[in-house]
Amino acid sequence: MPETKTANIIDGKACAAETREALKVQVQKHVAAGHRPPGLAVILVGDNPASELYVKNKITACKNVGIESHLHRFPKEASQQEIIACLNELNTSDTIDGILVQLPLPSPLSEAEVLDAINPAKDADGLHPFNLGCLLAGKPGPRPCTPAGIMTLLAKYDVTIEGKSATVIGRSNLVGKPIALMLMQKNATVTICHSRTQNLPDVVRSADILVVAIGKSRFVPGDWIKPGAVVIDVGIHHEKGADGKSVITGDVDFQTAQSVARLITPVPGGVGPMTVAQLLANTVYSYQTRLGIS
Ligand code: GUN
Repeated sequence: MPETKTANIIDGKACAAETREALKVQVQKHVAAGHRPPGLAVILVGDNPASELYVKNKITACKNVGIESHLHRFPKEASQQEIIACLNELNTSDTIDGILVQLPLPSPLSEAEVLDAINPAKDADGLHPFNLGCLLAGKPGPRPCTPAGIMTLLAKYDVTIEGKSATVIGRSNLVGKPIALMLMQKNATVTICHSRTQNLPDVVRSADILVVAIGKSRFVPGDWIKPGAVVIDVGIHHEKGADGKSVITGDVDFQTAQSVARLITPVPGGVGPMTVAQLLANTVYSYQTRLGIS
């Protein structure tokens, strides 16, 4: 196996650790001044192993920065009404600043209806339509965690966005649409690709900045990538390798992409840790806003 270079790898783990440290200092300052700690409520429905792991990581990260987390678990048979009743309580609780509903929800629950029931002022994920509207209109508000984390990474690595050609593969509310808006607001020329896009390899080859959030393992090979491009891989997949051992892959074929890209996020250790760091940042932001402190 060829040796992996590290020179062009975007270190999301280190960047997330920096963000967490800054948040921890802020929380410590507020608590020392006599304020209660921030509170994040996490709703987990069903027993999806990936969601279990993400929620566990989020709860650990909260603890590390001094945010109190409150996990509300529901069985996969839970009704929409039960979940919305829980949200209604959390929406008015004095000690809860952020609310997160881990996605995906098991069918037949409606993600749109559940997200609509979150108090937009406590929307730790920035996925309520009001907050997505604020993003569209360029107004302040909590931003979806994965795209906001990606923008932080691009800034940390001094990636020029203005005037560049950015291609986003995937059009979800969670990642594709919001990251396209954020890149456009930084004056990139943005192309959004999806399952019906024609000549996808050629479109991808024109990108100076490529964001892949398609949910398919190793979907983008290195020979689709423009030499010198910045590649952001949002995918995460657990697979069995040729030796039977489990391997974690992204939406990009890292092995062939790394030698073509100028900068690339690894999986794991790229975008994932930034998603969690941004969730904490959104929670602290809504805590500070609710308490009128900064
Ligand atoms: N599932 C995958 N990513 C996310 C995320 O950023 N937020 C929530 N709530 N669920 C997810």
